[in-house]
Amino acid sequence: MPLVGYGCAGRIGRKPLGEALELGYALFDTSQASEWYLEEELGVALAMSSVNRSAVFLTSKLHPRDLGEQSTLRAFPASLRNLQTSTIDAFLLHYPRCFGDLCGGREPEGTWRESWRALESLYEQGQVRALGVSNFSPDELQQLLGFARTPPHIVQSWMDPLHQERPLREVCRAHGILFQAYSTLGTQWAGRGVRVNPVLRHPVLGAVAAEVGRSTAQVALRWALQHGVAVIPRSTKRRHMAEGLDLFAFDLSAAQMASIDSLDGTDPSAVHAPPPPPRSCTDDSDACGAWADAGECDANPGYMHKACAASCDTCPAKAEL
Ligand SMILES: NC(=O)c1ccc[n+]([C@@H]2O[C@H](COP(=O)([O-])OP(=O)(O)OC[C@H]3O[C@@H](n4cnc5c(N)ncnc54)[C@H](OP(=O)(O)O)[C@@H]3O)[C@@H](O)[C@H]2O)c1
Repeated sequence: MPLVGYGCAGRIGRKPLGEALELGYALFDTSQASEWYLEEELGVALAMSSVNRSAVFLTSKLHPRDLGEQSTLRAFPASLRNLQTSTIDAFLLHYPRCFGDLCGGREPEGTWRESWRALESLYEQGQVRALGVSNFSPDELQQLLGFARTPPHIVQSWMDPLHQERPLREVCRAHGILFQAYSTLGTQWAGRGVRVNPVLRHPVLGAVAAEVGRSTAQVALRWALQHGVAVIPRSTKRRHMAEGLDLFAFDLSAAQMASIDSLDGTDPSAVHAPPPPPRSCTDDSDACGAWADAGECDANPGYMHKACAASCDTCPAKAEL
């Protein structure tokens, strides 16, 4: 399976999905959890594109509300319908259990162990080509390995340079399971009260990026790949999508890898945004910075390049003296 894929969280719609297909992404990671994903938009984007279904690896995941053997078997066909396909390349248990109000306050019919039996049947019938789990602890993964008829092929979990998941990766390595990292670009920290993205803004990653002439995001993704970890970056910007595919024409040296490895467990809130570069013109509105961060300079250049020239970095050239 491809080691680089496109992450579809953030309820990504058919337009960016179509662009990702067109650019050559060959793996798409989605889920039945419509809180974050729109499986059917991926099905439509694929049907509308010129890319053959057989050229693309589709991963989806079971919502934890459907844990249980029969409930998993009842839930699974929705992915086939939404994705307009007769087989799913990989089907994962999204979580080992419900948490917060994710399952609407109702207990699922059964447990992840019972769901695994359902996944094994789907695999044996050829409806799914690979099985996996997500958000499992090392201990839960060991339990699964102890009773599975078909052991997991894929384990998907959060991994970024400050949160490296070494114990879980070690279990995967020992059992020949592919570890697929999510949120490698630092997005998990925002939900934990960290205001500056500590991966994309990290000075160590920034320095390595300058050394290899790549972006900080590419360095984070390449670092994961060099650890034998698959990645699934998400982006709505064509330029970023292209960067996410361009990860095989450069290497990080052993020293660069070690400098990033040493960030594991370090304090994410110690990473501060660098001061903004000096501007040679001003914005018309205080909201320009936020609009620019949301991608409006590309989406709405006519207005933004004029009214928000400083934030879009499109200040008119100074007249020659
Ligand atoms: N199993 C699970 O429980 C679970 C949980 C979370 C995520 N996931 C999966 O993992 C995927 C990726 O994780 P994620 O969605 O948390 O986010 P991510 O890929 O770590 O980061 C996405 C963010 O990075 C930015 N970005 C992407 N490429 C960039 C580049 N080259 N330069 C600068 N910024 C860049 C994007 O902004 P732009 O749009 O502006 O480029 C976006 O804000 C998800 O989409 C999903 O498929 C699974």
